[in-house]
Amino acid sequence: MKNKIVSGIRPTGNLHLGNYFGALKNFLRLQEESDCYFFIADYHSLTTHPTPENLQGNVKQVLAEFIACGMDPDKACIYVQSDVPETIELYLFFNMNAYLGELQRVTTFKDKARKQPDNVNAGLLTYPTLMAADILIHRASKVPVGKDQEQNLEMTRTFAKRFNHMYNTEYFPEPVAYNFGEELVKVPGLDGSGKMGKSEGFGNAIFLIDDEATIKKKIMKAKTDSGPTEKNSTPPDYIQNLFALMNIVSKEETVKFFKDAFADCNIRYGDMKKQLAEDMNEFIAPTRDKILSISSNDELLSKIAKQGRDKARESAQQTIREVRDIIGFKSI
Ligand code: TYM
Repeated sequence: MKNKIVSGIRPTGNLHLGNYFGALKNFLRLQEESDCYFFIADYHSLTTHPTPENLQGNVKQVLAEFIACGMDPDKACIYVQSDVPETIELYLFFNMNAYLGELQRVTTFKDKARKQPDNVNAGLLTYPTLMAADILIHRASKVPVGKDQEQNLEMTRTFAKRFNHMYNTEYFPEPVAYNFGEELVKVPGLDGSGKMGKSEGFGNAIFLIDDEATIKKKIMKAKTDSGPTEKNSTPPDYIQNLFALMNIVSKEETVKFFKDAFADCNIRYGDMKKQLAEDMNEFIAPTRDKILSISSNDELLSKIAKQGRDKARESAQQTIREVRDIIGFKSI
């Protein structure tokens, strides 16, 4: 069987730099050489109860952003998760062998339960089984994602192994979180607290749609201090985060210039942030312009979604047929 690749992104807002470097950049390379399925995880986004208007608008927006970044519907299968309801049948099967204790121990569940104590729904709890279904519905073996998804992938392997063991088969592969030959990526946010994310409040994330002024405003607001006082000291986390962002959008010599200045205690954070804002804008501008032109092209987006749906369903239907047979659902 050909090596299959699957990954998804929740449509809960515009795509940001973390999504790009954690996932999309890998998609773009993988679509050139593998059998790829990239989807918009709209079922997953229901855990936060979006309105119907927001749900549809966000799905369209993310699809436009995928295409603007260079995802090619003729090379990869790009689809909307809810267009492939077979996923839900596999989700049900996995849920029958997923246990409360192990689901409650998943870090992302614990985080979400802490952040939204009034909405700790069963969808949140069973998020990892739906993710396993997304991946295994195409029997994929590699999943390009950022570091934050590592534990979910571990759960996917657990469910695959459990199914195989239970039915004495080797039907499902044990997929791994994947980054092109390197370590999984964690892009830091601008607020100095941790990873870049959509839900961390304005200013933490840089979106691929952000205009020049917004990028500058966010970066100039990032936390700094009065600078190092000891030569060759280790930068505090929030300064390391700025260097990490610089590393991904600036030239090597630019990063070196500011690192040397830091080591010599003569760094000017204002200059560093201005430079970072400029480089960031240069990196984002071409994609931003494409997003703006594609997102109003309903005809194109709907054509791409249909093309993806047909291919994804064909693959999903085959898996469901075979899984039903293994489980023992046979016509009588
Ligand atoms: P989501 O929508 O939160 O993020 C989409 C992708 O972006 C990556 N990412 C990051 N990578 C590095 N640094 C960051 N700061 C950062 N923020 C986000 C994520 O790792 C992810 O790859 N559960 C998934 C969606 C999903 C999925 C799947 C993924 C549903 N089913 C099946 C893979 C396979 C999620 O919430 O990603």
